[in-house]
Parts: sequence; structure tokens; C-alpha cells
Amino acid sequence: MKTILITGGAGFIGSAVVRQMINETDYKVVNVDKLTYAGNLQSLVSVSNNPRYKFEQVDICDAAEVSRVFREHQPDAIMHLAAESHVDRSITGPADFIQTNIVGTYTLLEAARAHWNSLEGERKANFRFHHISTDEVYGSLGDAGFFTEDTAYEPNSPYSASKASSDHLVRAWHHTYGMPVVTTNCSNNYGPYHFPEKLIPLVILNAVNGKPLPIYGKGDNIRDWLYVDDHARALRTVLETGKLGETYNIGGWNEKTNLEVVQAICVLLDELHPQGAPHANLITYVADRAGHDKRYAIDATKIADDLGWKPQETFETGLRKTVAWYLENTDWVKGVTSGEYQNWIKKQYA
Ligand code: NAD
Ligand code: DAU
Repeated sequence: MKTILITGGAGFIGSAVVRQMINETDYKVVNVDKLTYAGNLQSLVSVSNNPRYKFEQVDICDAAEVSRVFREHQPDAIMHLAAESHVDRSITGPADFIQTNIVGTYTLLEAARAHWNSLEGERKANFRFHHISTDEVYGSLGDAGFFTEDTAYEPNSPYSASKASSDHLVRAWHHTYGMPVVTTNCSNNYGPYHFPEKLIPLVILNAVNGKPLPIYGKGDNIRDWLYVDDHARALRTVLETGKLGETYNIGGWNEKTNLEVVQAICVLLDELHPQGAPHANLITYVADRAGHDKRYAIDATKIADDLGWKPQETFETGLRKTVAWYLENTDWVKGVTSGEYQNWIKKQYA
């Protein structure tokens, strides 16, 4: 039975990966997470009692603790998702982004390299370091074209610059030390357990509570949306079958303007939560994000052709599931919006 060490497993995408690995494979999973404001163990209650799941509350910048985790758990592979992930926060306070996304990735790479060097035979040959990154490293597109794996890096925000730096470190560790790495760059995820600072969960919860739905600028910026479980499935595919040293773009072929996304949420809520309809009356245009990237669009041909992955959800099916999930999972929502999820975590580990 293989052991996968997943960093950031208490976050939005990491928790989807952990749930999928526990429910659909026989891997042991070690979740390494510092539990920042974005880490929520309530997203993992469905798997936390499984004997194949272990949690380590560790900061990936803490070299001694990271090395201890490697020594104790002897992983066969790493999936590195831990990061500061919110662009707006990176604009108002970039320091944590530099620390976790760059220094943290470096610290993890060094611990992983020491561990990999200590392995022998098949375990050494099969070891993988999978770095999970973003399409934002490629910068912003005009009206036409797509990001491919060959697109030059042009990160524009402190967040995307920190992620681009981490991608380069991973690439260099492969080139210089021969570390067995794969990197994925994905478009915007949405789905259950998404922290309500990001557009889709923020708009769903504000609309349900009769609060304004803030749209930056004119709402004509474009993002390419992917349902989070499709991303988790893609990550597993790349971990298990990706070619070492390669990068794979992951996207949903679902380009929408922000206004289209918010309007689609309002239409679904008018049907599923008619109190307060029409919810679109709450749409409010606010000041634009500084340096706001205009358009992202992923060409996901390589992962489809080489590894056979395709998304299962369309934007329409995925968004309906997401809105319904937020309406049904009131305890999780209450925990997050009241801040109680952080006290709950402290009580579990007191
Ligand atoms: P998230 O903010 O929801 O979760 C991040 C997790 O990392 C949290 O559990 C947090 O506690 C943990 N963490 C933060 N700093 C840490 C540290 N120093 N040590 C240990 N743990 C730490 O993020 P997400 O949206 O789930 O994104 C996960 C990864 O996927 C990130 O690397 C992000 O760049 C990438 N990504 C995200 C998206 C998206 O749309 N959300 C798209 C493409 C790529
Ligand atoms: O493209 C992948 C990236 O997608 C990930 O790497 C990031 O971690 C993830 O946060 C996401 O970044 P975005 O900045 O695209 O996501 P966000 O949900 O913050 O914003 C989506 C779009 O909606 C963006 O154009 C800004 C806009 N927006 C956002 C918020 C929070 C609004 O108009 N109003 C809002 O209140």
C-alpha cells in the first residue's frame, strides 16, 4: 500500500484530493497542513476516522518538522498543494505568499530530495514529487488564443509571481538534481467546501443573505472554470501516469465572464432558493482589482491526448451541484462564516 503525502489537504482543492484518495484508492494519505485561515478540518470529517488517513499540523516552511514528517511516514509520493491562494490578499499583503509559496516549496523540495536519496530500488525509481500550480503564471490573454504548456511565464500579481517562482524551483530541482517531478497548471476551480472569499462561494452566500454581489470593474474579465472533483481526478491521473519532468495544463473548456458567472448563480438561486428573487437585483459594480488579468483560457489538449483525462462536469451541471451543496450544507457554511471552524480545530487538537 502506497503512502501519499499531501500538503494543503485541509484547503479547498487539497480536501477534495484527500477525500477522493481515501474513497477511491487504497493509498495511505498523510495530510500536512498548517491550518491557516484557509485550512478547515470540517471539510474532512467524512474521512478523518479512516485508518488510512493521518493529519500532521505542520508549516511547510519549518524544515525540521517537514523532515520529521518524511522520516516518520516514508512517503512514496508528494502532492504539493499548500499555498497562499487568494489574489486579493496577495495584493494587500504579499509577505505570506513569498514565505509559503516560495520558501515553503523550497523547504519541501529539500526534504523530499533527502528522502528520495535515502530510498533504494523500485521505491526510489517510482518516487514522485507532484507540484500543483496555476494558469495565472502565464499572465493574461487577449480576446483570442489559449495557454499551452509552451506559453512563456508572465505572472502579474504577487500571488502568481510567487507560484511562478515555485514552478521554477521545481523545474530546477529536476534539471539539476534529477528529482522525479511533475507539475500541473490549472484554471479556476469551483465546487463544495470553497472558502467564501473567492467569487463563486462569496456570491452564493451573499445572495442567500440579501447582501450585495460585488463585481470588480465591468464584470467582463474571463476565467475558465473547472469543477473541483474533475481537478482532483486530473491530479491523480498525472500523479499515476504523468511523464517525469513534464508539465500538464488542466482546464474545463468553460470560459465565462464574471458577470455571466454571477448571473448564472442568481438564476439557479431564483429556482432553488426563491426567497429574495430576483437575486440579480443584488449585483453591485465595485472598484476593479489592481492589475486585474483580463482573460485566462487553458488548452487542455495535452492531458487529454497523452493521459486520457477529460472533465466530467459541464459548467451548468457543476454550478447546479455547487449551489445546491451550499444550500444543503448549512453546518459547514455556519462554521466558516462564524469563524467557529477555527475553534473547532483547536478543540480537536487541544
Ligand atoms: P486554499 O487556500 O483553499 O488552501 C490552501 C491550504 O494550504 C490551506 O489548508 C492552508 O491551511 C494550507 N497552507 C497554507 N500555508 C501553509 C503552510 N505554510 N504550511 C502548510 N500548509 C499551509 O487553496 P486551494 O484553492 O485549495 O489551492 C490549492 C493549490 O492549488 C494552491 O497551490 C493553488 O495555488 C493551486 N490552484 C488553485 C486553484 C483554484 O482555483 N483554487 C486553481 C489552480 C491552482
Ligand atoms: O486561475 C486559477 C486561480 O483562480 C487560482 O490560482 C487562484 O488560487 C484562485 O483564487 C483563482 O484566482 P482568481 O483571482 O481568478 O479567483 P477569484 O475567485 O478571486 O476571482 C475570480 C474573478 O472574479 C476575478 O476576475 C476577480 C473577480 N471577482 C472576485 C471577487 C472575490 C469579483 O468580480 N468580485 C469578487 O468579489
